Formats: sequence, C-alpha cells, structure tokens
Amino acid sequence: MKNQQKKTVKFRKKDILPQFKLPNNILSKDIMEYNNLILQSLPSGVMVINMDGLVTFCNTSADSILGIDYMKEKDKSYAIALKENSHVAQLIKNGLNGETYFRKQIQIKAAGNFKWIGISTTILYDPKATPIGVIAVFSDITDVKELEADIKLKERLAAIGELSAGIAHEIRNPLSAIGGYSELLKKGLSEDEIASAVDGIIKETKNLNRIVTNFLSFVRKPQPVFTETDINTLIKEIISMVSFDKNAERINFNIKALKPLPAIEADPFELKMAFSNIIQNAVQAMPNGGRLTVKSGIQYGRIFIEIADTGGGIPKEIGDRIFNPFFTTKEQGTGLGLAIAHKIIEAHDGKIEFKTMHGKGTTFIIRLPIRR
Ligand SMILES: Nc1ncnc2c1ncn2[C@@H]1O[C@H](COP(=O)(O)OP(=O)(O)O)[C@@H](O)[C@H]1O
Ligand SMILES: [Mg+2]
Repeated sequence: MKNQQKKTVKFRKKDILPQFKLPNNILSKDIMEYNNLILQSLPSGVMVINMDGLVTFCNTSADSILGIDYMKEKDKSYAIALKENSHVAQLIKNGLNGETYFRKQIQIKAAGNFKWIGISTTILYDPKATPIGVIAVFSDITDVKELEADIKLKERLAAIGELSAGIAHEIRNPLSAIGGYSELLKKGLSEDEIASAVDGIIKETKNLNRIVTNFLSFVRKPQPVFTETDINTLIKEIISMVSFDKNAERINFNIKALKPLPAIEADPFELKMAFSNIIQNAVQAMPNGGRLTVKSGIQYGRIFIEIADTGGGIPKEIGDRIFNPFFTTKEQGTGLGLAIAHKIIEAHDGKIEFKTMHGKGTTFIIRLPIRR
C-alpha cells in the first residue's frame, strides 16, 4: 500500500517519515529542503545529471572533491562542469547509456591536484520507473590509497630484505669452503691432497650452481604454456621417478586417481615441478618410511590433487612460513620448493593449502580450474 502511494502520489511528509519527529524549525520547512540539508551534509559527493546531460544537483562535498563550483556550473552540461575530469565524465556518459559502476576507483585531477576517488553510479528513475538521469556518489580515497601504497612498498622491501638475507646465507657456506680449499692449495701439498682439495672446490662450485639455479627458477616469472594436460599421467610420471630415489626405499606409494579425469588447461612442465617439490617434501618427511598417498578428483568444478604423507607433520609455529622463499628446517634444504610450487599454482589460477597433524602426517591439497 505504502509503496504504491510512494510511486503515484507526490511526496508528502506523512508518507515518507510517518513516525519520525522532525525538529520544529524544520517541520515548518518543505520536506524537499530537509532532503537537501541531508544531501548537503553528506561527506560523500553526490551529483545528479539528467538525460539531457545537464547537471541538476551537486552537493558541497561533490564541489570540493571535484574542485568545481556548482553555483557557477548549474544547468550546464556535465562535460563542461567536469572539464578537468574526463574520466568521471566518461563514467557518467556510460551511466546515461545504462552502464553503472560500483565503487570504481579512479584517479582524478581536482583544482590542479591528483587524487583518488571511489565512485558509484546509479540510474535515477521517476515514480513510473522511467530513467530520468544518473546519480554519481563518490568519496575521496586518496589517504587510503597512499596508505595502501605505503604498506605495499614496505612489504616489498621486507620481502627483498628476507630474500637477500637468504641468498647471502646460502652462498656463504660453499664460498667459505672454497676459500678454505684454496688456502690449502697454497701450502706444499702431496698430489693426493691437491686432488682432494680440487675435488672439494668442484663440489662446492656445483653446490653454488645449484643454489643459483634454484634461486633463478624462483625469481623468474612463470610463463606457463597452457596445453591440454592429463593430471593423472603427470602424477604417475612423478611417482615412478621419485620411487627410484634411494630415500624412498621404505615408502609405500599409493595412487587413488579418479578415472577418467578431464584434461585441464595447464603447463605440464610447470605443474610437474610444483608437484615434485611437494612429493619430495613428503618423502623427506618420512625418513623412516611410511605411506605416500596421491589422490585426484573433481570438486566444485575444479580438479583437486591431494598429496598425503605419514610423517611428523608441520609444527604450528612454522605453518604460515613454509611458503616463504628460503624458509627451511632442513640441513640441506634450499627453502625454495614450496615457494616455487606456490607461484606455479597461482599462475594457473589455482590454490594450494595443507592440513597437518603432529605425529600423524601432512596433506597438501592443490585445486586447479579445468578451463581458464
Ligand atoms: N610434507 C611435509 N612434512 C613436514 N614438513 C614439511 C612438509 N613439506 C614442507 N615442510 C616444511 O616446509 C619447509 C619448506 O619446504 P620447502 O619450501 O620445500 O623447502 P625445503 O624442502 O628446501 O626445506 C621444510 O623445510 C619443512 O620444514
Ligand atoms: Mg622442499
């Protein structure tokens, strides 16, 4: 009933604010003026443009955010009122063509200064549901944007710091070993001793090479080449490779693959690297043997791959660090395996997570879209 009245009858005080007591001084004024007061007091900018593209309303916040003067611009085309801000003008133009936006973030120039605004547009309808214009509501989000950029920069710097510390730490050991062997070579040594020092240098050089190769495979941007990929074939290939590993002698491998699994759009080489890093960790988590189960299937329209071990589990304290580059708890670890895997899965629009239980084992779950 009330809704119908609102649509067909002109606004009346009692329809709109039935139980709301207005202050006396406002009661005497027209309700439209009261609405106007509300709009003028909002910290957000509100601008209304009619179907002819003329600005019919603009509150004071809109003036100050956009750096315009509505009294001067009144009833002028929005394109003229927004002469400095073609980006806002474009959103309004799209609005007049029926395309609206929700909290779009754009950069504008207002009175010579650049600022960020968050802007939403809606169509203004008359009581008969005929479009009669566009309402743009926006607020200044420059401070928020600056804070965001600040945080991002700090995070990047922290990440670079952690990365450099990691590389320095990794490189220092083989480097000092090479230094030691070289010192030995300066002394008068027997032929055998020379040979053993040179072997040591060669070994440490190989070690350095491995560190650099691993690091490069981490820092390089994955550029996946997507082809139709059968995940089950990939898993079988990795398992047969890993099961020959000496460390895997006492591990029982178990594959529970859903057959047939649809082929997915993926880069098989990249995925192979990601899965083998996870499977190698699982093998390393069971030095005294155990069971490694790889399961595949479909859930919620996505492929999932579960890699479960019966090792010691991942301690709670380190759970949120295992994907960080150079984080390792192993004597010979590089700490790059999971960081690389994470990056590859992300490049596939996938997700990687894990469940773990102390003394029971760990399960890594990878979810991948079938089509991208
Ligand atoms: N299946 C697992 N079981 C227990 N701990 C694991 C497992 N997978 C990863 N981790 C932990 O995460 C760390 C980081 O793994 P990763 O990035 O592959 O580096 P790395 O294997 O060289 O240590 C490991 O050192 C280990 O502490
Ligand atoms: Mg690893």
